Amino acid sequence: MSTDAEGDDVVSSGGRVTVVGSYNAGFVIDVDEIPVPGETVLGSDFAEGPGGKGSNQAIGVARLGANASFVGCVGDDHYGDEAFDLWAREDVDVEAVERIDDVATGAGFVIVDENGENAIAVAPGANAELHADHVADAHEQIRNADVVLCQLEIGDEAVGRAVELASDAGVPTVLNPAPARELPATILESVDYLTPNVTEARLLAGHEPDADVPNETVGHELLELGVGCVVMTVGEDGALIITEDDLERIPAPVVDVVDTTGAGDAFNAGFAVALTAGLDVTAATRFGCRTGAHCVTAREVIPGLPTREDLEGIPRPDR
Ligand code: RIB
Repeated sequence: MSTDAEGDDVVSSGGRVTVVGSYNAGFVIDVDEIPVPGETVLGSDFAEGPGGKGSNQAIGVARLGANASFVGCVGDDHYGDEAFDLWAREDVDVEAVERIDDVATGAGFVIVDENGENAIAVAPGANAELHADHVADAHEQIRNADVVLCQLEIGDEAVGRAVELASDAGVPTVLNPAPARELPATILESVDYLTPNVTEARLLAGHEPDADVPNETVGHELLELGVGCVVMTVGEDGALIITEDDLERIPAPVVDVVDTTGAGDAFNAGFAVALTAGLDVTAATRFGCRTGAHCVTAREVIPGLPTREDLEGIPRPDR
């Protein structure tokens, strides 16, 4: 493995990231403005395509040249077939993915407005069938990983077992708490890097999603819940790395925004791959900001997940 002189470009990585999470069939509608409750709006384009934060992150990892293993569940419908075809094309190891009889594959309904902002509703389907025992069955994928990466489109038991197995084996854990919900201390205490956006950070810390509390304060509240380090993504402003003694601001590259859906997935994939390559949290966050920036330049998530070559077109922000 090697890095450039600046230390934030992962030139090669034989690292392994095991992603424990969701797969959703995706249904995307473009609108001028996201409707308010009770309103119907006429949209323009409609697209069907794969999604789910776990699967998106696993594909993001593989595109960046690291080994990606995915632990999850899909249903026994044609959306499940499509998922396996996708993972085969994207070189994601799915030995630990289970098909659940008589259950629908998860589905994500995404509305994207003219500024590229989105609103998403997810029907968990088979993702809700990912239980702790299933995760325990994937102990080899977890123990042999360089980083274990989870999100919250699966249940607490599954997330808890994944971070527990990883911690016991000394494997660094990243939890992208999306969508946010309150979590037991036993989970948070096993998380090395928590990667919320500003809304998720507030919810996790027990505030209203738009509470007028400084990000630094929220970050410290999350540290008090037991996580090792908070890497809070702040949209076009990049990310904040918050530890007990320090606050570091990492700027985001300036790009033309088409669709922000999946920016967090691309960030987390890049962040995790960079950690497997031995980069420190600052360099890993810079790399994640670049992979996240690439994602927002494309419509839909999968087309926005970058390869190393794609990243050459993403500017490096001033430090
Ligand atoms: O992060 C974007 C993803 O969130 C979409 O793919 C959708 O399926 C939801 O899981």
